[in-house]
Amino acid sequence: MTTTTAARVVDAVKVYGTGDTGVRALDGVSVDFPVGRFTAIMGPSGSGKSTLMHCAAGLDTLTSGAAHVGDTDLSTLDDRRLTLLRRDRVGFVFQAFNLVPTLTVAENIRLPLDLAGAEGDPEWIAALIDVVGLRDRLHHRPSELSGGQQQRVAVARAFAGQPDVVFADEPTGNLDSRSGEEVLGLLGRAVRQTSRTVVMVTHDPMAAAHADEVVFLADGRLVDRMTAPTADKVLDRMKAFEVPS
Ligand SMILES: Nc1ncnc2c1ncn2[C@@H]1O[C@H](COP(=O)(O)OP(=O)(O)OP(=O)(O)O)[C@@H](O)[C@H]1O
Ligand SMILES: [Mg+2]
Repeated sequence: MTTTTAARVVDAVKVYGTGDTGVRALDGVSVDFPVGRFTAIMGPSGSGKSTLMHCAAGLDTLTSGAAHVGDTDLSTLDDRRLTLLRRDRVGFVFQAFNLVPTLTVAENIRLPLDLAGAEGDPEWIAALIDVVGLRDRLHHRPSELSGGQQQRVAVARAFAGQPDVVFADEPTGNLDSRSGEEVLGLLGRAVRQTSRTVVMVTHDPMAAAHADEVVFLADGRLVDRMTAPTADKVLDRMKAFEVPS
């Protein structure tokens, strides 16, 4: 069976903890991320955005419901197969970069390839390094970089193995507007020129306007979707989330 869906979750529920102290981070979310689409996920802090991304990417498991990458139901995979799927088909930009401190910038970017014992495409890697503007920092370690530079390393690393789908958790959160535009441009080009699928969490309406569609979460539920977003439309929608003072 073929699919046009790069990733999806169906009736996704995620409960952290148990009993009275349990937190229902996802409360029945169904959403699909079609191949070749750039989707932004927005919503207040604590609304479940990172949890949704982690579960959709196979980094965490759902309490109930299903998560698929392509045609693969993640719950059917043993640990080894899940590791292979994450390595070969998914890229992830963590909210807290997760760079390896003892590796240089170049080594961090190549890490998914090196773990896979793969050569990778040298032209692709070189282009990535230029797009994120890190050519003159390749031999530095993360501790020698600014927060924005570390974030750009994390974005380049997510794309290094040319995965089908990249999940990026606030990839522009620590960038100045120019670096942010460059990263958003990279994400947009990956979708439009190479039919990759990008799912990005952001709090920034300007960043969300780069996406094809915005999905809004509140209290662990999907509350709205918007196609062809503009910064103004997104800002108007976000105002509805604000607690009246
Ligand atoms: N490991 C965990 N254990 C317990 N509760 C957790 C855990 N991770 C997240 N939560 C809770 O689940 C809810 C959703 O968290 P999540 O990180 O998905 O929010 P978010 O929308 O990404 O927020 P932010 O915009 O602040 O990053 C929050 O109430 C959070 O406190
Ligand atoms: Mg988060």
